[in-house]
Amino acid sequence: MKKLSLLLGCCFISLFSVAQKASNNLAIIPEPVSVITRTGAFILPQSILIKAGSAEQVSLVSSYLQKKLFTATGRVVKVNAHGTLATIKLIINSKTDTELGKEGYHLVVGKKGVLISANEAAGLFYGVQTFLQLLPKEIESPVAVSAVNWVAPCADIKDYPRFGWRGLMLDVSRHFFTKDEVKQYIDQMVRYKYNLLHMHLTDDEGWRVEIKSLPRLTTVGAYNVKKVGEFGEFSAPTPDEPRNYGGFYTQADIKELVQYGKDRFLNIMPEIDVPGHSLAAIVAYPELSCTAGADKYQVRSGEHIMDFDKGVITALVDNTLNPSSEKTYAFLDKVVTEVAQLFPFGYIHMGGDECAKNFWAQSDSVKMLMQKEGLKTMEEVQSYFEKRVEKIVESKGKKFMGWDEIIEGGLGPKAAVMSWRGIQGGITAAKLGHEVVMSPTTYAYLDYMQSDLVMEPHVYETLRLNKSYEFEPVPDGVDSKLVLGGQANLWTEQVYNLRQAEYMTWPRGFAIAESVWSPKDKKNWNNFYPRVEKQFGRLNEDEVKYAPSMYDPSFQPSLTTDSLVKVELINEIPNLDIYYSFDNSYPDRFYPKYDGPIIAPKDATQLRLITYRGKEPIGRMITMPIAELRKRLKR
Ligand code: ACM
Repeated sequence: MKKLSLLLGCCFISLFSVAQKASNNLAIIPEPVSVITRTGAFILPQSILIKAGSAEQVSLVSSYLQKKLFTATGRVVKVNAHGTLATIKLIINSKTDTELGKEGYHLVVGKKGVLISANEAAGLFYGVQTFLQLLPKEIESPVAVSAVNWVAPCADIKDYPRFGWRGLMLDVSRHFFTKDEVKQYIDQMVRYKYNLLHMHLTDDEGWRVEIKSLPRLTTVGAYNVKKVGEFGEFSAPTPDEPRNYGGFYTQADIKELVQYGKDRFLNIMPEIDVPGHSLAAIVAYPELSCTAGADKYQVRSGEHIMDFDKGVITALVDNTLNPSSEKTYAFLDKVVTEVAQLFPFGYIHMGGDECAKNFWAQSDSVKMLMQKEGLKTMEEVQSYFEKRVEKIVESKGKKFMGWDEIIEGGLGPKAAVMSWRGIQGGITAAKLGHEVVMSPTTYAYLDYMQSDLVMEPHVYETLRLNKSYEFEPVPDGVDSKLVLGGQANLWTEQVYNLRQAEYMTWPRGFAIAESVWSPKDKKNWNNFYPRVEKQFGRLNEDEVKYAPSMYDPSFQPSLTTDSLVKVELINEIPNLDIYYSFDNSYPDRFYPKYDGPIIAPKDATQLRLITYRGKEPIGRMITMPIAELRKRLKR
């Protein structure tokens, strides 16, 4: 009897610990609409049967799940349309559940099996993503892992997105990412229920999409000189430096990428950035410029070509298309014709940002256009250009979208606006009745540094994770129906490889994903950052790079009455300890612990610090020069 109760006790404890372990894994990003946890756990059997219909879209989901489960567990995973004893059932609702919409799902994890139901296959796909996040992190391993307790906590989850537009923009012009790298990026995106990849395909540094009727765009326009250092300050290339850095996507590559996205319920939106940022196109076809000597220009390699002083943009070489020449519109008609055929997505983004107008102002041809059309300002000249481009885009059966500068001289009749200089452009456009996508620098610019300047590759500003998490796509007083959604943008002036693109994207991409998927009232920073930490474990399994910058404190310097530098350290997440030194040695947890503003001794040259959680170092070693803190006081 004693032995029996001991045995029962052991069973209870081990079952309890399985369930306990399983519920520890509940760290879903983006947070679902409703989660009810139940007692017990689902244990993945040795032989897994997925029940799913054979309709093409549903098969995409079942094969995706089959591949994930097989890859990580090494177990037998079969898919069958009639598996009454199936372990995981993927079911399309016979009667539409209006609450779920097109992308929502209902996931029930029971002790005996898993049921995912949805109105459409996209919903099943997102249900699968949530289910995978309930399994141990090793599910993200690209090779089979043994000795894993493959359990998921029992739960009942109902979920659907807040917005239909959930995007990331990848700048493939400043750095060319290969087709396979773009696929990897898509794989990472869809796990967090993003459904749109915006590809910034053209800029001063390279034209990346093959246009068969305009071959020089890619034979000439796709290559520059590889440089490293501070982008924008690179030395101008000499004639003997090889122009072999870059590349482009053939039309076959684009079709493959579009299909790859479609198979994962993700659209690709192309961006052709005109009339500014067009140096690569002008180098290929100098007749597109209103400036004499454009035939001597070269694709930019990161040298200084624009000034942004006091908000006025001045180009040092004319990187704009000539708005007064019919050749420009004939060129754009050819480009848009081919782009519209390549990308099935309903919108084509035609850029419109940061268009310098100083060369236009000097052009007799532009002056004549202004007279003829009654255009009074350069903004109105750009507006004339945008309205003509809008007509071209619409003539190919697509909707026209542009950055918020397209509002300035008067918005075209149906133009959709992507608001990047804060949210004001989006507010203005929506108040005029136009569709809007929010991607403000304030919250959603993934090229910005994630912690202090001394720790990150230098870009214009810092945007910390907790600030990104405050992203709210619908401003007060705006008709929410006109806000299609939101996206984050990864510009790649300072990104030279996919690892760095990943580092810049995650974890801020989690914050944006949650802002565009989850109900507004479910967002909660104190609940979010522990989930981020759990997701780090998943990214580690898949060997995806991410930034640990949320463990770096920020620095608030001031001056004491006797002119010593005093610094306050502010942690982004709670319950971390900071240990520091002023004596140039590397601190650990046996060094002084920060418990309030510290004063640098008179002759100290640097403050070094490291962040711990308990006994574990969790942050990076940071070295902050005292001179740098002094410099900041003067600003
Ligand atoms: C932009 O960031 N120039 C749209």
